[in-house]
Amino acid sequence: MPSPALDQDLADRLRGKFLVFDGPDGSGKSTQLNRFIEAAEAADLTVCEVREPGGTHIGEEIRKVLLDAKHEQSHPMDLRCEMLLFMASRAQLIAQRVEPAIKRGELVIADRFISSTLAYQGSAGGLPIPDILAVGRVALGKYWPNLVVVFDVDAQTAQLRMNPLLRGKEFDASKDRIESKGEAFHRRVRQGYLEQAQQDPHRYLVIDATREPDPIYEDLIAGISGKL
Ligand code: TYD
Repeated sequence: MPSPALDQDLADRLRGKFLVFDGPDGSGKSTQLNRFIEAAEAADLTVCEVREPGGTHIGEEIRKVLLDAKHEQSHPMDLRCEMLLFMASRAQLIAQRVEPAIKRGELVIADRFISSTLAYQGSAGGLPIPDILAVGRVALGKYWPNLVVVFDVDAQTAQLRMNPLLRGKEFDASKDRIESKGEAFHRRVRQGYLEQAQQDPHRYLVIDATREPDPIYEDLIAGISGKL
């Protein structure tokens, strides 16, 4: 569906800003992200789009280690190792992509960022939030996002969106190591995002993502415009 261009006032406010699109697996954030980027580019913004984990050559190598489901049984990954790898990939991403783009006045849009680590390895995994934030301060330096958009969706809807054929089944071989972690884990992930947003309401925008794409997109534009 065509994406209306952003109005000029909003486009001007987005220059040199850093937005994160985040949410549980199956939240539909990628659809919204693509649509928003199309609209931003139509309004003459230069967009630097990055995805996590990955986004750089080194980051993509780290991503393979992180998401590889094959060795989970024989070589389970320690949770602190997992958190540090996500953060290492992020440090590289900031140095190589985010910092230069912001300096050029581009709009940086990240598909996941430290908010994912806080939700997955922190709230759901069990690592203390202050520890993650401490490592985050080292990895991010001054490049914290201006706004984190959380696409909020309940675990059941998310599960079905990820794989409509999954109804009633326990294991889905197409999922990566983290997606395979079960419903209780994903409920805590969702809760984690909502807690982050409660604690930092100026920097977070929560959108009800259980609906159809059009109303979600309308809320997204109104919300970004209101927060920035
Ligand atoms: P990916 O295939 O990129 O998922 P999505 O398309 O949903 O973004 O896989 C990323 C997975 O890694 C996803 O399950 C979320 C998880 N993740 C963490 O656990 N911690 C993190 O810090 C990040 C960035 C991602």
